[in-house]
Amino acid sequence: MIIFYSSEKLKNHLNSVLSGQKTIGFAPTMGALHQGHVSLVAAAKKLCDVVVCSIFVNPTQFNDLSDLDKYPRTLEADKALLVSAGCDILFAPEINEIYSAEELELKRQHKEDKSWMLGKNVDFGLLDKVMEGAHRPGHFNGVAQVVSKLFRIVEPHKAFFGQKDFQQLSVIRSMVKQLEMPLEIVACPIVREADGLAMSSRNTRLSVEERKNVTKISGTLFSVKEEYKNKPVSELIQQVEDLFKNDPCMTLEYFDIVDSSSIQTIDSFGSAKSAVACIAVKLESVRLIDNIVLF
Ligand code: PAF
Repeated sequence: MIIFYSSEKLKNHLNSVLSGQKTIGFAPTMGALHQGHVSLVAAAKKLCDVVVCSIFVNPTQFNDLSDLDKYPRTLEADKALLVSAGCDILFAPEINEIYSAEELELKRQHKEDKSWMLGKNVDFGLLDKVMEGAHRPGHFNGVAQVVSKLFRIVEPHKAFFGQKDFQQLSVIRSMVKQLEMPLEIVACPIVREADGLAMSSRNTRLSVEERKNVTKISGTLFSVKEEYKNKPVSELIQQVEDLFKNDPCMTLEYFDIVDSSSIQTIDSFGSAKSAVACIAVKLESVRLIDNIVLF
C-alpha cells in the first residue's frame, strides 16, 4: 500500500493511474477502522481496479468539540488493517492539505462556509433538516464540504459509504447530483458485531457496562422489523420512545421511520414506497446511531 500525505503527490500519482485507463474506487473514512470499513474496501476491490482509502478526522463536521477531541486516532493499526484488506493507496492528509486557514477560521466563528460550492447553489432541502441534521447543526454541511474536497482530489469513479450513516448517504448523493460530479455512490450494508451492535469507530469509547447495554439499540430495531406489518407507524414510534423513557444508561435522541429517498417520516406503511427505522441514542461516553431497512 502506498501512503500519501500530500494531495498534490496523490493527484500526480492518480493521474498516472488514470492514464493507464484504470478505474478508481474510493472509501473516505475518519480512521479508527473496523470491519465495516474493511467491507467498503472489499466492495471497492470487487468493482474497481485501484482502491484508495482516506483517513482524515474532519473538524468541520463536529458540532461537539469534545467529540472531536475524543475521536479515536489509531493510524498505525489502521494502516495494518488496510494492508490486510488489500487497499492500494492510503491518503492521510494533515489539516492544511484540506482546509485553508480562512476556511478553518470561518468554521471557528461558526459562520456557514459555502466556498466549497464553487458558486453553485447546493441546497439539501429537507434532507439535512431532520434526525442527524436537526440534532447536529452544521454536521452535514461539514460532511459535504470535506467529501466534495476529497472527491476533487481523488476523482474516483465510484465512492463507497456505509449504510449505517443512512442520512449521510442521501446528503452525499444529493451533493454529487447538484454539483454534477461524475461518479457513482455505492452504499454498503451495515456490518454488525455478533450481538447485533452496528460497528462504529465510537464503540471503542463505550465503558464495559455501556457495551453490555447497547445491544438494546439494535435489538429495538430488530423488533421493529418483526412487528411493523402488524402495527401503525405512530404506535411503533411511541413504543420505542416508551422503551427508552426511564433507561438509566441511555437517552433516546430520536427514533423515526422514514422514506429512504426523502428521509421524512412516513405516514403509514400502506402508502409508503420504502421505510427505514432510524435511531440515535446518547450514553454518558458517546452518542450512537443505527438503522434498519424495513422495506
Ligand atoms: O462517515 C464518515 O466517516 C465521515 O462522515 C466521512 C464520510 C469520512 C467524512 O468525513
